[in-house]
Amino acid sequence: MALSGKRILLIISGGIAAYKSLDLIRRLRERGASVRPVMTSGAQEFVTPLAVGALAADHVFTDLFSRQDEQDVGHIRLARDCDLVLIAPATADLLAKMANGLADDLASTVLLATDRPVLAAPAMNPRMWAHPATRRNVATLAADGIRMIGPMAGEMAESREAGVGRMAEPLEIVAAAEALLDDGPKPLAGRKAVVTSGPTHEPIDPVRYIANRSSGRQGHAIAAALAKLGADVTLVSGPVTIPDPAGVKTIHVERAEEMRDAVLAALPADIAVMVAAVADWRVASAADQKIKKHPGESIPTLALTENPDILKTVGHHTMRPKIVVGFAAETQDVESNAKTKLERKGADMIVANDVSPATGIMGGTRNSVKLISRAGIDQWPDMAKEDVAEKLAALIAERLRQG
Ligand SMILES: Cc1cc2nc3c(=O)[nH]c(=O)nc-3n(C[C@H](O)[C@H](O)[C@H](O)COP(=O)(O)O)c2cc1C
Repeated sequence: MALSGKRILLIISGGIAAYKSLDLIRRLRERGASVRPVMTSGAQEFVTPLAVGALAADHVFTDLFSRQDEQDVGHIRLARDCDLVLIAPATADLLAKMANGLADDLASTVLLATDRPVLAAPAMNPRMWAHPATRRNVATLAADGIRMIGPMAGEMAESREAGVGRMAEPLEIVAAAEALLDDGPKPLAGRKAVVTSGPTHEPIDPVRYIANRSSGRQGHAIAAALAKLGADVTLVSGPVTIPDPAGVKTIHVERAEEMRDAVLAALPADIAVMVAAVADWRVASAADQKIKKHPGESIPTLALTENPDILKTVGHHTMRPKIVVGFAAETQDVESNAKTKLERKGADMIVANDVSPATGIMGGTRNSVKLISRAGIDQWPDMAKEDVAEKLAALIAERLRQG
């Protein structure tokens, strides 16, 4: 609903991912937004203004010094007569221009002249994204209040290189735009939340690790839902393949100990929701070098040691958040295990789910949970993980309101 009736100025710059912007225009318009396109000259090497204009059902703006366009709309009005400026793809070049305040073509001039929120979906070769110059520019833009969605990890369209640099998918960009334009109630404004999500990877040696099937979908959705209600959210994520939620500060970690450190660094907070599937054990002494297989030698055994219990640490901390929620992924005795957990961990609520393989919950998109609190047990119907997240966020907001 957030996009219905919204005017989006879509700036397309010159990257191979420009082909995805055609689909992005459709997705935005399907949701009731109008799309006014601006294309750099680079962008026109990848997709034609004809295709962009036809899909957007609007004039495509390309030239700063077009007498006609300047008379009809003008670059300043173009920059202001919209609810959101969306850049997809955002090239390394355009990010560099923005970070330095350059205005030497229509796109960069509009970006310097706008007073609207700006959301950029960067797309570039992983080396370009990792380059210190791009790192500096991205940090500058973040400080200037420019929002980013992606780039994602994966294979590049134009080369066989993999790494971080692929543009977010159109629907991920749409979700980020929706989150940014959402003007619903904000009962969690002024509240701080810390959320964990995903699995942890516990190294065995430099190339092997112990992991689990957690996808991060539920934890990420909860972080997004809390942010949507106005909370200032820090998400501490284990290794996942899904994008960082929009409007949330995401910290990426691998191991349980790193996750604990990042969570404690995010305190004080009003809300803690510990969703991550943290490995209970790690390898007692991970090898520095790859463990080699030698014919005839005995098979190595792994000695494990206990990992920190992050939920329990937070639940008993001197800076314990007002509301502490834990997740219990069980495959048997779901209720009784969750009840024990509530007490032992110092949590206010435990969201228990049965993650037996037959349920398809772990790694899947739906969830069927029981909410266990001191007030009792509430079985929620089977629903999408996003809906579980929204319901839980609303419940947290209500509890905080009641004090
Ligand atoms: C085939 C090809 C693909 C390119 N893909 C990208 C890309 O994905 N991201 C990027 O930042 N630049 C990419 N470039 C380089 C940009 O097109 C170049 O920096 C251009 O000056 C960008 O102009 P603009 O930012 O005004 O659109 C690519 C160039 C070529 C020839």
